Amino acid sequence: MPPLLIAIDGTAGAGKGTLARALARRYHLAHLDTGCLYRALGLAVLNQNLDPTDEQSVVDLARSLLSTLDLKNPALREEAVGVAASHVAAIPEVRALLFAFQRNFAQHPPEGMQGCVMDGRDIGRVVMPEALCKIYVTASPEVRATRRCKELHEKGIYSIYDDILKDIRERDERDQTRKVSPLIPAEDAFVLDTSQMTIEDVIHKACAYIDAKWVAPEKTRRAEGK
Ligand code: C5P
Repeated sequence: MPPLLIAIDGTAGAGKGTLARALARRYHLAHLDTGCLYRALGLAVLNQNLDPTDEQSVVDLARSLLSTLDLKNPALREEAVGVAASHVAAIPEVRALLFAFQRNFAQHPPEGMQGCVMDGRDIGRVVMPEALCKIYVTASPEVRATRRCKELHEKGIYSIYDDILKDIRERDERDQTRKVSPLIPAEDAFVLDTSQMTIEDVIHKACAYIDAKWVAPEKTRRAEGK
C-alpha cells in the first residue's frame, strides 16, 4: 500500500491548519504546516532588520539558516511575520531551497508514519503533485478577517478589522499573482468554500472525500479476510 499523501492548499486564514491537524490525527499521518517554513524565514529577516523584498540578502540568510529554522516559535503567528513570509515566498530561490525540505518530508514521513498531510499554497500542484487527495480551502476575505479578529481578541490582542482585512487582501493578491508557484487550485482538487461552514462540517466533508478515494490497509485486509 503506498503512503497516504494529503495536500491542503488555500488562502490565508481559511482554516487549512485546523483541517490539516484534524486529518493527521484521524488518519495517523505526519503533518507539516509549510507556511511555518516561510514564516520562520520571514521572522529571521525581520529580526535581522533586512528588507523581505531584497532577494539576495534573503536568499543568503535562507541558505545559512535552513537546517536551524525554529518552526515552533510562537512569534511565527504574528501578523507582521505573515506579511514578511508572503514577501520572501515570492523569491524563486527561496522556494527552491524550501522545496527540497518539503519533498524530503513527503518521501520520508517522520516516526515511521504511513504518509503525511501538508498544508500551504502550492502543495497539490508543485510539492506533492502525486498526492492522492488534494483539498483547496477558501472563504471570503470578510469572513476570514472576522475569524482572525476573533482569534486575536481571544488571545487578548487588540486588532482593527479594517487593517486585518487589508492585510488579507494584499496577501491573497501577492500569493495569487507571484510568478513562481502562485496560489491556484490544482485541477483535481476538491474545493471547499468554508465561508458558511463550521469547522466540524469542513472536517466531515474532507473525510468523506478522502474515504471515497482511499481504501485503508485495514479495510483491504478485512475485505480479503486476512
Ligand atoms: O499559511 P501561512 O499564512 O502560514 O503562510 C504564510 C505565507 O507563506 C503565505 O502568505 C504564503 O505567501 C507563503 N507560503 C507559500 N507557500 C506555501 C506556504 C506558505 O508561499 N506552501
